[in-house]
Amino acid sequence: MRVVSKHSELNLALDRSLNRPSIGLIPTMGSLHEGHLSLIRMANAECAKVVVSIFINPAQFDEKNDLKEYPRNLKSDTELATQAGADIIFTPDVSDMYPEDFDTWVELPRTSQGMEGSARPEHFRGVATICLKLFNLIAPDNVYFGLKDAQQTSVIGRMIEDLNLPITLRIGPTIREQSGLAMSSRNKHLSPNNRERAAVLSYALAAGVQA
Ligand code: PAF
Repeated sequence: MRVVSKHSELNLALDRSLNRPSIGLIPTMGSLHEGHLSLIRMANAECAKVVVSIFINPAQFDEKNDLKEYPRNLKSDTELATQAGADIIFTPDVSDMYPEDFDTWVELPRTSQGMEGSARPEHFRGVATICLKLFNLIAPDNVYFGLKDAQQTSVIGRMIEDLNLPITLRIGPTIREQSGLAMSSRNKHLSPNNRERAAVLSYALAAGVQA
């Protein structure tokens, strides 16, 4: 397993020849949990090389505090990703991904509308832009996203189709804690009381399905 942070190192770590082995990419912002690990395992079963990107993307945060407080733990992330089958971990710097004169953005006004997009107006433009940059840098055959972020998977699928990217989108199931709460890096911010209350969402959804 190799950890690389520069584009030039990425070129050395990845075989760019015509008959290169297939590449699976799992884009993440780190603080890996079972949801990410299940995607890494899925990629490992389907691709010869598995790349996990860990990049806390400032462009998709509407609130400065949310960005500042986003959980970070590269050491344990590296261990977990390696155990799950990652071959390369790509951890670029913000200044490499967004140099001062950066001025190109990917927008999907229709797919980003409503749901999470209503509460976070800049979010999906940041997600689409960083994902396209990662896709261009890594040139994956398959990319892996979790269904938990349902609107995000629609945005990525739409972008792949609209821009004719030679990439297959693979979607993994939502992985839940025993309480039913969907696993998420931000769950670390929940107090025990709020964690209990948050599980009500999945109870309510399950009850709705039953009804
Ligand atoms: O789902 C995430 O963690 C992020 O939105 C992603 C896809 C890694 C883009 O920064």
